[in-house]
Amino acid sequence: MPYRTIIEPFRIHTVQAIDLPTLPQRREAIERAGYNLFGLHADEVIIDLLTDSGTGAMSSRQWAGMMVGDESYAGSRSYFRFRDVIQDITGFSEVIPTHQGRAAEKILFTTVVTEGQVVPNNTHFDTTRANVEYQNAEARDLVIAEGRDPAAEHPFKGNMDVEALIDLVEDVGRDKVPVVMVTVTNNSGGGQPVSMANLRAVRDVCDTYDIPLFLDACRFAENAWFIKQREKGYADRTPKEIAQEMFSLADGATMSAKKDGLSNIGGFLAMNDEALAQECRNLLILTEGFPTYGGLAGYDLEAIAQGLTEVLQEEYLQYRIRSTAYLADKVGAAGVPIVRPPGGHAVYLDAKEFLPHIPAHQYPAQSLAVELYLEGGVRGVEIGSVMFGKPQADGSELPAPMELVRLAVPRRTYTQSHIDYVGEVVIAVAERSDDMRGYRILEQAPWLRHFTATFEPL
Ligand code: F0G
Repeated sequence: MPYRTIIEPFRIHTVQAIDLPTLPQRREAIERAGYNLFGLHADEVIIDLLTDSGTGAMSSRQWAGMMVGDESYAGSRSYFRFRDVIQDITGFSEVIPTHQGRAAEKILFTTVVTEGQVVPNNTHFDTTRANVEYQNAEARDLVIAEGRDPAAEHPFKGNMDVEALIDLVEDVGRDKVPVVMVTVTNNSGGGQPVSMANLRAVRDVCDTYDIPLFLDACRFAENAWFIKQREKGYADRTPKEIAQEMFSLADGATMSAKKDGLSNIGGFLAMNDEALAQECRNLLILTEGFPTYGGLAGYDLEAIAQGLTEVLQEEYLQYRIRSTAYLADKVGAAGVPIVRPPGGHAVYLDAKEFLPHIPAHQYPAQSLAVELYLEGGVRGVEIGSVMFGKPQADGSELPAPMELVRLAVPRRTYTQSHIDYVGEVVIAVAERSDDMRGYRILEQAPWLRHFTATFEPL
């Protein structure tokens, strides 16, 4: 189209009202929640950018699919549709449905990882890391140096440092590395993509040492779009062809269908190794359900099958990636520090730059996230030392490499004016950042503490 504006490639069919809590109401709510945004009632939030996971709008075709869902316990028709769509995109012969991504992780790592082993990833997502650590194994992040520098411009900041991967395997020995994971796009590192060339290089290392390679494929379609836009030789390929090539380089994948499955729940574990799949299915039956539904309803399987088809449409991906970049452009133009270039599903505010007067152990990104809520009812999520700080034996804490607030954009949910409003809120907070203070943790859980910790302002 000859116009500058990329329009939403859909029209609205059903709407949900948004409550508009006042500033005193927001103040009361955040105090009650112990300054943890996960503790808010969703009705206390105006624009919810906590996550892009399961929060998107389904299409009329997905809802229609739900009406033909087959709820048979074993051999459901909906399972075969789900399996066929996933086999077509991924090429993996074994397709195991799970109720969401972390269930696939739990089953995979319980099956392949043992105590004392090391799992490399470009950057582990929090549940992925926790599931590795739960096996008493180590989760090692090996993203390239640019991926750890918010201001560095690089087209594929999610790439894995291939030399570091080789060094790791040489150092600990092949037998200590049961699987290599690559997360596309690299969520905890700013939603940054991984190039096909990098995936191929990681594949070569895995071939050399005979280690299986699994993709954490939650946002595989967004990654495919970035490859189409940024990597030489892919401009004329369809997102589906690119996705197929990405998966062809791996031995398996874990997937949360709550992201690029365009669904509100669901996930899967897929692979080529039949014997391993059998072991995984045995565990699936114990924890999720029979292998043809795996913790999902038949109608969920239909919604996911249809979602995985829609997510690879070019008009959708163009709108999707552009709407995230639009928010980044808006706040970036006002001088607000963000991870550059913007990620696929989210804009990441750089709280270290934003609040240089708040040290890491006083959680600058938590402070910024709370302030965005107080200012405009915008809920983002801290991805910094609250989420990834490592408590040390002496009671101190090793800070996370970056202090970020992620503003994740739910798929097909908010319009341009919602995003304009978010931009205005971020800019208003930026103008009074000098007055903001840090936080102290009052209570915390032994793992994944960010979900339930409570805080006190300093
Ligand atoms: N891997 C990545 C890269 C993720 O982003 C997530 C979830 C998971 C695995 C786990 O999937 O939630 O279905 O169990 N990310 C969400 C987020 C929660 O907000 O980024 P799940």
